[in-house]
Amino acid sequence: MKVLGISGSMRKEGNTAQLIQVILGQCRDAGIQTEFISLAGKKILPCLGCGKCIEKKWCINETDDWGGIAEKMLACEVLVIGSPTYYYDVNGHLKNFIDRTYSLFHDRKLSGRKGIAVAVHASAGAERTVKTIEGFLNAHEFASLGSVTGIGTDEGDIMNDAKAIAQAKKTGDKIVRLLLPHHD
Ligand SMILES: Cc1cc2nc3c(=O)[nH]c(=O)nc-3n(C[C@H](O)[C@H](O)[C@H](O)COP(=O)(O)O)c2cc1C
Repeated sequence: MKVLGISGSMRKEGNTAQLIQVILGQCRDAGIQTEFISLAGKKILPCLGCGKCIEKKWCINETDDWGGIAEKMLACEVLVIGSPTYYYDVNGHLKNFIDRTYSLFHDRKLSGRKGIAVAVHASAGAERTVKTIEGFLNAHEFASLGSVTGIGTDEGDIMNDAKAIAQAKKTGDKIVRLLLPHHD
């Protein structure tokens, strides 16, 4: 698939998911294939730091949902990856997911894809959330297409953040121009 959205929030249809879906919606409207994955309900164990992936080039832990999502990430051209802000940073579930990508780092298997960081907060901290996600994207040699941040507390609040929605649509349009250069 061309554009993959991943939300780290445990709220399946929470603010992060909805903001990512606005970006994906712009792509779908232009006929670009997208897929959205919520990490809510997915089993993502932490990286053990065992280092066995340095030789194996894949995580030795194949008992959870990480591998299937990693395969989809490898198959995408653009990754839109987002998190709610928890204590001024990404939430733990997304961090576990990111840490496990160490297995893809050794051969820079994700290099060359485009990446967009998405973060939502209630009042403060989204800047660091974006920085953490961008650290992941940069380490894996994604080319950055920017970031989108928004404000919300309860599920769905994000749709009232006009600035965030406009930024998300603009970012979606940027993906469309990248993937369909002759699209109006
Ligand atoms: C454990 C926890 C920690 C949070 N920490 C922050 C924070 O540091 N700053 C902030 O502005 N909001 C914080 N929030 C609020 C969430 O970022 C906010 O509700 C966000 O919209 C949730 O996104 P979601 O619906 O995608 O899960 C926290 C919420 C929880 C549950």
